[in-house]
Amino acid sequence: MARKFFVGGNFKMNGTISSIKEIVNNLNNANLDPSIEVVIAPPSLYLLLVRENLRPEIEVAAQNVFDKPNGAFTGEISVTQLKDSKINWTILGHSERRTILKESDAVVSQKTKFATDNGVSVIWCCGESLEEREAGRTIEVVSSQLEALKAENPDWSKIVIAYEPIWAIGTGKVATTEQAQEVHKAIRDWLKGVSDKVADETRILYGGSVSEKNCGELSKQPDIDGFLVGGASLKPAFVDIINCKKQ
Ligand code: 13P
Repeated sequence: MARKFFVGGNFKMNGTISSIKEIVNNLNNANLDPSIEVVIAPPSLYLLLVRENLRPEIEVAAQNVFDKPNGAFTGEISVTQLKDSKINWTILGHSERRTILKESDAVVSQKTKFATDNGVSVIWCCGESLEEREAGRTIEVVSSQLEALKAENPDWSKIVIAYEPIWAIGTGKVATTEQAQEVHKAIRDWLKGVSDKVADETRILYGGSVSEKNCGELSKQPDIDGFLVGGASLKPAFVDIINCKKQ
């Protein structure tokens, strides 16, 4: 099965009403390759603003969601609230949440299970630190993150995997096409342990200093099915990344 190329924009904790409206207007007016699936993830405060103003074929994602239906969980947002607001996606397990907010593999996996079981699709992130890469532990680290997810038996048809080496995030130091393809292939091989269908159909995105300059080469790799873009998703060049297959 041909996997639909996917480009996500993770705004992280950036933007104001005015700058986010500008990004939305830019996307609304852009000539986007219709064969590409596009999802953008603004900070939670701006999810509704974006959903109400963005062209309907682009989906909107939260950057996090809790794993309980509703209730006394101060500061959290529920899957029900996302769906009520027509936010059909969420990012989970981003390395910034794993490291800075101390979210464990188990917590990320439980949230992913809850979201996918309740109708919200997940951009599920994984990736190794520089220390782990230099110790030759990249595949081991990513596999153990995946094992924790598999233990929860989530709905894989609602998951897009984003491989984001931590050392490449926000550093301008992109993984080489070979480094990225090697890990993407290992992830796809690991997915065969879930099922051949899941391995064949799951999109595996690359994230970490993706730009309009490096996206063309990366997009040609057989196991790179798209990107999760941070800094460049805040800029007009995000349109060029979405259209990278035309380069
Ligand atoms: P940058 O594209 O800014 O390196 O961020 C990548 C990322 O973390 C996307 O989730």
